[in-house]
Amino acid sequence: MKVGVIGAGSIGLLFASYISKIFEVTIYTRTEDQAYQINENGILLRKKAIIKQSSVKALPISSWKGIEDFTIVTVKQYQLSTVLEQIKHLSKRPKNLLFLQNGMGHLKLLEEIKGINLFVGTVEHGALKENAYTVSHNGEGATNVAIFRGDFSCLQNFATKVPADFPIHVQEDYYLMLRNKLIVNAVINPLTSIFQVKNGELIQNKYFFRVLTSLFGEISFILNLDHPEEHLRQVMGICKKTAENRSSMLKDIEANRLTEVDAILGFILEEADKQEKQAPLLEIVYYCIKGKEPAKGGEL
Ligand SMILES: NC(=O)c1ccc[n+]([C@@H]2O[C@H](COP(=O)([O-])OP(=O)(O)OC[C@H]3O[C@@H](n4cnc5c(N)ncnc54)[C@H](OP(=O)(O)O)[C@@H]3O)[C@@H](O)[C@H]2O)c1
Repeated sequence: MKVGVIGAGSIGLLFASYISKIFEVTIYTRTEDQAYQINENGILLRKKAIIKQSSVKALPISSWKGIEDFTIVTVKQYQLSTVLEQIKHLSKRPKNLLFLQNGMGHLKLLEEIKGINLFVGTVEHGALKENAYTVSHNGEGATNVAIFRGDFSCLQNFATKVPADFPIHVQEDYYLMLRNKLIVNAVINPLTSIFQVKNGELIQNKYFFRVLTSLFGEISFILNLDHPEEHLRQVMGICKKTAENRSSMLKDIEANRLTEVDAILGFILEEADKQEKQAPLLEIVYYCIKGKEPAKGGEL
């Protein structure tokens, strides 16, 4: 099976490195220079003290023709529209696309794509791009995938063939799969970014924990959770397990990059709007993050 990976950031390099043991992979980069560097050096995967090199073909995204059997899209949510626009101009439509973005804001963009089997996924790994061709695998986990629309068979085939040390689990219900991860991200990411703390401090500091439970309460009401206590336990469990980690949103804010807050809190605020529900705390938290994003804070 030929597999395309769009985006050679942390997740794109991680996936390309692992799955190239099994599949013929082409990774598509935003810049020509990154494609050149990957072709020269391969992809280096760092896991603790061990570095493994894999040979993966790289091309700039301008050369993407959509000819692979299965394509994994690993750009950030706010970078998706450029990729989706490009699909419209391909002479041959890709057959199967898997989207690995955090949040749920991308679902409305996927609604507009016709005639392609569409899948979505959530990634539990922690990965960090070190340079154009090196990625560090900092946290091992699994990838969950589910069908969004179309025919299932290629996803199933892909998931059963991936290497055992890089598991991909096929889930029944894409909405529940994405929603469960969304709840965790919606609480931990923005609060750690506003308070500028590691994940563990949200449950260790009793005042931050009060804010966490209030925010969770609003999210639970808007998403109509049947068993909110289970989700709250999950959020607290992740704060505990990743106590020493800095959330991806905090890292984005510290590096003066855009965040995925629109995909995460923006989606929940839209849900609140549709249901005519009030979400005062969620709104404040959302605007606190928007205000910290580059070049946005001063605009009125
Ligand atoms: N990293 C993690 O550990 C992790 C864990 C779970 C979930 N996720 C999710 O996975 C998604 C990707 O995250 P990430 O950490 O891999 O982000 P990232 O490191 O920023 O990677 C995104 C990559 O996409 C490239 N790109 C942007 N527009 C492109 C285009 N039009 N064509 C081709 N490439 C393009 C970027 O290139 P440039 O750098 O050249 O702009 C960048 O290399 C996010 O939704 C994130 O929330 C990440």
